[in-house]
Amino acid sequence: MANRTKPKYIGILTAGGDCPGLNAAIRGVAKAASGTYGMDVVGILDGFTGLVENRVIHLTEYEMSGLLTMGGTILGSSRNKPYKMPLPGGASRDMTGAAVETYQRLGLDCLVCIGGDGTAKNALHLKKAGLNIITLPKTIDNDVAETDVTFGFDSAMAIATEAIDRLHTTASSHARIMLVDIMGNKAGWLALSASLAGGADVCLIPEIHYRFESIVGAIEDRQRRSRRFSLISVAEGALPAPPRARKRTGGGVLKGQRIEPADAGTKPANISSALAKALEKRVGLEARVTTLGYVQRGGIPTPADRLLATQLGTTAARLIAQGTYGVMVAIKGRDAVPVPLEKVAGRRKTIPPDHPMIQTARLIGLCLGD
Ligand code: F6P
Repeated sequence: MANRTKPKYIGILTAGGDCPGLNAAIRGVAKAASGTYGMDVVGILDGFTGLVENRVIHLTEYEMSGLLTMGGTILGSSRNKPYKMPLPGGASRDMTGAAVETYQRLGLDCLVCIGGDGTAKNALHLKKAGLNIITLPKTIDNDVAETDVTFGFDSAMAIATEAIDRLHTTASSHARIMLVDIMGNKAGWLALSASLAGGADVCLIPEIHYRFESIVGAIEDRQRRSRRFSLISVAEGALPAPPRARKRTGGGVLKGQRIEPADAGTKPANISSALAKALEKRVGLEARVTTLGYVQRGGIPTPADRLLATQLGTTAARLIAQGTYGVMVAIKGRDAVPVPLEKVAGRRKTIPPDHPMIQTARLIGLCLGD
């Protein structure tokens, strides 16, 4: 949608699970918007909750100082949706009207929503309610549709890789099986990338349902080659193959991005403890589980994430200055480009079976459990 008057006043919010690089993105938007395009910028607190409740702070040059390297988000975040705001007692209420009212009361020309697939959905909802919206893709899961990469992912990959490195030495000392739980919701990008970078022996991801026998085979094969330990990374959404799905393994090959409906409701189950027990019994090695958890979302962003967040943030400001709204700023190759929110919302990017990383994993001998 093109806007004829020059945008003067914009808001920024961060929503969904936090990740390294959020502050760098806020800084990128605000510095370009105010410094280059002469706009005033406000920050909306605690995601869409602050929009509904009209909780706002001014973002001046002063607030931007030191933000590039800072983890978390100075604006706070929440997973609340404008159309489903929680009420005391567990009920919820559609507060879209209040969100629109805050936007209008502030006289905003555009709202920049920094978040993942859930945020894109909320943003599309507000777009349909008449707001000018731009989103920026962040998440350690890297599962946002239509963008090659999200910021936060590289930092989490570095943390998970370092954890695998550290687990290697202790696994080797004690001749143990080490299982490491890696976040990622229902996509295996983080677990697979860290497993390749850290040299794990087995990596279980949601996109490839695993068979217990295949994991046992990989460990026994290592034992035959005098490897005293094994390192297994388990993505958050990894699942065993149901009997019928086994026959289909290796079936359809998808090209490009694999996009699935983002049924955000259900949380993936944790399977590592059960696997550890079963493996101890079966292969006769001690097994231990390490859950990285929120460590993966904390701390300073890597240089790559700082660059990405800054590129995305400044591009958002440029798009606003041009009057381009209703889009997510996506990374395609080296470019940051607008993609209609309709193409992003409610979809999840998972790893396609023919992705180069899957091929690399197979060639290096990383067991994917199938
Ligand atoms: O989206 C990032 C993420 O850390 C996922 O990897 C994980 O499934 C989820 O958020 C955890 O959510 P919460 O912060 O609500 O516990």
